[in-house]
Amino acid sequence: VTPTDYAFIQRYLKERSGLILGEDKRYLVEARLGPVARAANLSLSQLIQALAAGRDPALDQTVVEAMTINESYFFRDKTPFDHFTEAMLPELMAARRMERRLRIWCAACSTGQEPYSLAMLLAERATQLAGWRVEIVATDIATSIIDRAKAGLFSQFDVQRGLPIKYLMNNFTQEEDKWRVNAPIRNMVQFRPLNLLRDFAPLGQFDIVFCRNVLIYFDEAAKRDILTRIGRQTQADGFFVMGAAETTVGLSGAFAPHPQRRGLFQRTVAAPAPAFRQIAAVG
Ligand SMILES: C[S@@+](CC[C@H](N)C(=O)[O-])C[C@H]1O[C@@H](n2cnc3c(N)ncnc32)[C@H](O)[C@@H]1O
Repeated sequence: VTPTDYAFIQRYLKERSGLILGEDKRYLVEARLGPVARAANLSLSQLIQALAAGRDPALDQTVVEAMTINESYFFRDKTPFDHFTEAMLPELMAARRMERRLRIWCAACSTGQEPYSLAMLLAERATQLAGWRVEIVATDIATSIIDRAKAGLFSQFDVQRGLPIKYLMNNFTQEEDKWRVNAPIRNMVQFRPLNLLRDFAPLGQFDIVFCRNVLIYFDEAAKRDILTRIGRQTQADGFFVMGAAETTVGLSGAFAPHPQRRGLFQRTVAAPAPAFRQIAAVG
């Protein structure tokens, strides 16, 4: 790629997906977009001209998806899932014992390992959760990845990375050399395409939000904006989880680190404005 084309792709991806490409990622653009160009019978520079012309939304989506990093695995980093069963679930089940409703959002779910890990943990607690309505909404910018997540079909390699054998045995069925998540677990997760740069308020309020290993690729302004907006979608006593190398500290006042649990954040709620007293004083 020429310096001009590379500068265009950097700007283009930042605007469309938030991805920040450093100067050392030319090889990545060539490796990922080369095949996209060839499939469209274009050279890389012709592909970039087509993107600049901006007349093909399908091509935009293909390019954005080709540049995503979809690495994920079951029970990734383990600790967040311990926080889930040891802190988030018990606290929220006590707090929501009247309405018996919980809403969980995996905000960049990739091929589904994260929401399915949560679903398996919930399924293990079916007795305690009898009569509860628990929703897991899982979203990602890449529609092809969302389709794969929905299908719930994983390779031997995928299920060998971090998935304890008892979860494999209880929740998957072998199909030739692959493993499919059983329907009861699949049906617990609603997968939807969603770009975090766009408005996600219509998803509603959540008790728990996992947003792991996606904001690391974005610049500070995008991180601040997304964290602030996720804050608005999180219940006042809700929880927020980022990746092992990520933090909200210095980026957003919407969440504060949990005093005992590393990597877990809690919604901070500003004290309500003393509107009544002000009005009374004026009156
Ligand atoms: C590295 S994966 C993380 C998956 C999972 N959360 C985990 O930690 O294992 C990052 C995911 O973020 C998605 N992504 C990238 N930009 C996004 C955006 N603007 N909105 C929503 N998802 C995005 C990618 O498609 C990719 O599947």
